[in-house]
Amino acid sequence: MKKVTIFNTIHFVFTALVLAMATTAFGSEPGITSAPYGEFEGQPVTRFTLTNEHGMVAEIIDYGGIVVSLKTPDRDGNMDDVVLGYDDFSGYENDKSYMGAVAGRYANRIAKGKFSIDGQRFQLATNNSPNHLHGGVRGFDKRLWKSTVATPNEHPQLKLEYLSADGEEGYPGNLQVTMTYTLTEKNELKIEYRATTDKPTLCNLTHHSYWNLGGSASKSILDHQLQFYCDKFTPVDETSIPTGELQAVKGTPFDFTAAKSIGQHIEADDPQLKLGRGYDHNFVITGEAGTLRAVARVSEEKTGRVMELLTTDVGVQFYTGNFLDGTVTGRNGQPFAHRSAICLECQRFPDSPNRADFPSAVLRPGEVYEKTTVYRFSAQ
Ligand code: GLA
Repeated sequence: MKKVTIFNTIHFVFTALVLAMATTAFGSEPGITSAPYGEFEGQPVTRFTLTNEHGMVAEIIDYGGIVVSLKTPDRDGNMDDVVLGYDDFSGYENDKSYMGAVAGRYANRIAKGKFSIDGQRFQLATNNSPNHLHGGVRGFDKRLWKSTVATPNEHPQLKLEYLSADGEEGYPGNLQVTMTYTLTEKNELKIEYRATTDKPTLCNLTHHSYWNLGGSASKSILDHQLQFYCDKFTPVDETSIPTGELQAVKGTPFDFTAAKSIGQHIEADDPQLKLGRGYDHNFVITGEAGTLRAVARVSEEKTGRVMELLTTDVGVQFYTGNFLDGTVTGRNGQPFAHRSAICLECQRFPDSPNRADFPSAVLRPGEVYEKTTVYRFSAQ
């Protein structure tokens, strides 16, 4: 009897040790877990932790669909965060930079918040003087979404749903939106968007993470290498509204068709760079809209991390964190320094509702808005 007890104890201690070692070596088990993250307007905010079989971990909250943290391996297998973020919910609640969030109902700018559909005029909230930006005063980034978790084919998956009411921020129609975040076995964060409406409206959703592949200690993205599969961009006026022209990147600082460092031409004497205070422009993605295709490849030499971006959409806003100025403090007491991260926002072209020659962002009853964006990570 005594022998059996001693054996059981040794067996228990041994199993616990093996489990503890496995958890340390490989992180937590693949799957999806949840934990309370705060409270918004009396409702609980939940953080979901998605872990894949390679130990890549994404933390996403149901407020704004925000990617709070995304840890990927460097060339030596060390995991570190590749997105900027805050320590806790109050940081996201007070954030004005769309940190890690979904932008919508219309991501990017609409001139003076005005547009018409079928001859009917609409006036949206203007929150980026004089224009409408990223859905208005209270866009999709500042809303609580309904969550459902799943693990199809063993891939951790989080589904977020939001019903944007007719008239919200000035938009016509009830828009029912679903976003599905999946962490795949290829170390991809895949975001699938779907929306339907009961009146003709606009729909243009994007993801606004601030990427720095150098990890949490990295303070600049100027030495990141970037390649864009885009040979045109949309120049802007002094309020960041496209002039309507599709300008060839060839011969300009906007030429990333061959990989170059982000900092190489960022201070060049160029009128468009002056207007954007750096890069803050929409690039025209080559290839067929509606098919998932490569948009960009970003790499960081010290860690070897690589991020490939794919989308079914037509444009990508390349923003070099020009408005980050060190006055806001993020995770671990680190200020968000000027140009310490980039955003790559797959989207319809800015102000497309006022440009008949730009691909349309109008969604009508009976139609389905569908879009997929993939962020794929590796190390070299
Ligand atoms: C987008 C815009 C930028 C800026 C950021 C948020 O990327 O293009 O001008 O507004 O969002 O700060």
